[in-house]
Amino acid sequence: MSSADTSKIPNSLQEHWMPFTSNKDFKENPRLITGAKGVYLTNHKGKTMIDASSGLFCNPFGHGRKEITEAVSKQLEQLDYCQPFQQGFGGSFDLATKISRHTPGNLNRIFYSICGSSAVETAIKISIAYHRARGESQRFRFVGRERGYHGMNIGGTSVGGMINNVKTFANVLMPGVVHMRHTHLPEHKFISGQPETGAEIANDLERIATNFGGENIAACIVEPIAGSTGTLVPPKGYLKKLREICDKYGILLIFDEVITGWGRTGSAFASQEFGVTPDIMTMAKATTNGVVPMGVIACKEEIYDAVMDASPKGAVELFHGYTYSGIPVAVAAALAVQDIIEKEDIFNRAKEMSLYFQKGLFTLKDIDVVENIRGYGMMGGIDMKTNVKPGKAGFECFKACYEVGVNFKATGDCLIIAPQFICEKKHIDEIIDKLRTGILNYSKNLKN
Ligand SMILES: Cc1ncc(COP(=O)(O)O)c(C=O)c1O
Repeated sequence: MSSADTSKIPNSLQEHWMPFTSNKDFKENPRLITGAKGVYLTNHKGKTMIDASSGLFCNPFGHGRKEITEAVSKQLEQLDYCQPFQQGFGGSFDLATKISRHTPGNLNRIFYSICGSSAVETAIKISIAYHRARGESQRFRFVGRERGYHGMNIGGTSVGGMINNVKTFANVLMPGVVHMRHTHLPEHKFISGQPETGAEIANDLERIATNFGGENIAACIVEPIAGSTGTLVPPKGYLKKLREICDKYGILLIFDEVITGWGRTGSAFASQEFGVTPDIMTMAKATTNGVVPMGVIACKEEIYDAVMDASPKGAVELFHGYTYSGIPVAVAAALAVQDIIEKEDIFNRAKEMSLYFQKGLFTLKDIDVVENIRGYGMMGGIDMKTNVKPGKAGFECFKACYEVGVNFKATGDCLIIAPQFICEKKHIDEIIDKLRTGILNYSKNLKN
């Protein structure tokens, strides 16, 4: 800490219990971010770093977007809050219309929540409400997938498949959840794009339906590309198979697009990119460029209609919602994002840049401590060799990279790379160069 500008460090770091953080490690050697503009972050040591994970996938349109700041400020002056139950304001309806222009198929009914986790909980509840409305209350089971991440509420933790997130809470998780195997096979080595093998893993859903009765399963939830476990790209044909099995048994298919939504794959959603339409889709993060929390759940029209039709006029049809469901500031930020998407042709921009990014990413293949690389669109995962520090390699490598000026998220032994869509080629070059330096420094420290 000797070179730190201590004026930027709070008097005490003890009271704040930080999320998903090695609190003890951090408090000995804090990494405080003091500013952000475009693709760059500044830390408390005054060092500029390039943001290689779009701030947890939240800010693909760049930090400090004036249009968003102005929209939020204007909204605060005009209407700072209005209760979302039994009343509303125009913006949330306008936003729903705009979002529905991008969603696949007829996923045109939009519910708002407050983050990705609450979007997943909402999707789970809507699935149950839909089946119940149609007289199929026996459908209580949910199918998730190993190495899936669906947020940290009880429902999302239950259907998720990241061991450390589950272990501590195992005795309070939802009953009736079954997991399919993940799709990452040993032969999936250094593949950019979709692996050719592994589509048959979707038959896990068929087996689960056979074992437990397909008529008892409410929904199957997957991230089209598993993001938090390091860009596990679905094998060719895998998602289509899941769709077919869901259709066969009347199971709802939920795509959790909290990461893949809003251009990460080069299409609006991974659904369009892979040509498979789910019944329900969740979004968060980039919806507001991460500046105000917001979750979105898009449902097929028939799901909405079934729930509406099951209740008499004047009754609340769905007993679910949040104090902060679609509040004015979040809506204002999301509407500003919609303008940016349109004006800057964001999806095509992401698609074009992804070719350059993928090429750069795979140049890191020659580094000794790199075990594997996966990538799709503007997403990449780099696995570190685990023979020295299994489970810790990602974090140790992240720290080495942070020191050389590239910031991202690491999980377990994997580095998660997700550049902003506004990146130019020179920014991608900078990310890749700094990753190389950081990873090599990490590797040298291992040998010392
Ligand atoms: C696919 C997916 N679903 C849900 C979530 C949870 O979102 P939040 O942290 O906003 O609750 C995340 C967060 O990373 C995610 O990646």
